[in-house]
Amino acid sequence: MQKRPLLAVAVVLSFILLVISLTALLQTKDHPPAVAIPPYVPPRGYVCYRAPQPIRIDGRIDEEAWQAAPWSEPFVDIEGDKQPPPRFRTRMKMLWDDEQLYIAAELEEPHVWATLTKHDSVIFQDDDFEVFLDPDGDNHLYAELELNALNTTWDLLLTKPYKDGGKAINAWEITGLKSAVRIDGTLNDPQDNDRGWTVEIRWPWTGLKELSGGAVPPKDQDRWRVNFSRVEWDTRVVGGKYEKVKGRPEHNWVWSPQGVIDMHRPERWGYVQFSTAKPGSVAYEADPDGPTRDVLHRVYYAQRDYHKSNATYAKSVDLLGLKSMRLADSIEIETTKTGYEAAVKGASGKRIVIREDARIGPE
Ligand SMILES: *[C@@H]1O[C@H](CO)[C@@H](O)[C@H](O)[C@H]1NC(C)=O
Ligand SMILES: *[C@@H]1O[C@H](CO)[C@@H](O)[C@H](O)[C@H]1NC(C)=O
Ligand SMILES: *[C@@H]1O[C@H](CO)[C@@H](O)[C@H](O)[C@H]1NC(C)=O
Repeated sequence: MQKRPLLAVAVVLSFILLVISLTALLQTKDHPPAVAIPPYVPPRGYVCYRAPQPIRIDGRIDEEAWQAAPWSEPFVDIEGDKQPPPRFRTRMKMLWDDEQLYIAAELEEPHVWATLTKHDSVIFQDDDFEVFLDPDGDNHLYAELELNALNTTWDLLLTKPYKDGGKAINAWEITGLKSAVRIDGTLNDPQDNDRGWTVEIRWPWTGLKELSGGAVPPKDQDRWRVNFSRVEWDTRVVGGKYEKVKGRPEHNWVWSPQGVIDMHRPERWGYVQFSTAKPGSVAYEADPDGPTRDVLHRVYYAQRDYHKSNATYAKSVDLLGLKSMRLADSIEIETTKTGYEAAVKGASGKRIVIREDARIGPE
């Protein structure tokens, strides 16, 4: 009589144990499957040579110094191969000296038009040319400059990308900025076909100092993150005037494709490599830590998803489903109540750290 309750207890206990182990087993199976990680595609790079004498900013880019500077690749659609190639060619050039960074662009365009005349208007509502600069490549504190064919400018400072809660500081002004536009054809005249417009920008280093943790002006071989983009709207002619076709989104043509329609992912921007060598004599050298930064950004994006559904950050690469990723075994993650730091040593020997707000850099 005494033995029977014991047996019953034992049966119940074993059942509970079985349920616990089954649940545990199912939970392990629930772990995200190891996703196939696409290979790292290095962003584009441009070697920026010295200007032998100061450049006159008049929108003409025919000085000898400009002639010696190489053209960039023609811009491509922001989504890469997913969209047809741009209808019209866009290319850029850069130069520098001790005082200034110079940028030139050439935009093929049969119908040059522009309407905005007030500084700091939302310029991409017109066709425009845009420059993005993140000198120390930490994804935070970067500058954006947009201008239209009327030479109207919009300069703004981003403390961090919008996706990380960053806000644009419109009141920020680029100290000493000078720009000019030259139209090869006629502005706002649909009677004829134009050839396009050229842009010339002079951006003093003094206006870039506050954005850089490194040397300003840069040193030979320094690399900065930079991006260029062109917004192009579909237009039609109504009553002798250009008018945007309603309901059509704009085209975004960029130097280095982002893969997604969001210029505010500085990790996908190109690189400008400053050089003191003779124009044309140096090859662009990719950032040795590029692949390391790439895996850390994969951790960052996986952590965002993980946090969205779990309200906490994962303590390991395993939990993020990134076990089979390159360098996965060497990535160290430390979490706090509100964030995390993921770190790994790059090919340069520096330990690179990324945070929950996308800030990245050597320790
Ligand atoms: C363009 O605008 C700037 C002010 O940013 C002005 O100094 C310059 O003269 C203008 N140049 C042309 C060619 O439109
Ligand atoms: C520039 O930014 C856009 C948007 O972030 C991106 O699509 C493009 O790939 C970036 N790179 C370059 C070099 O244009
Ligand atoms: C949430 O956490 C669980 C358990 O760690 C994990 O399996 C799941 O993938 C996480 N969700 C996301 C979206 O990462």
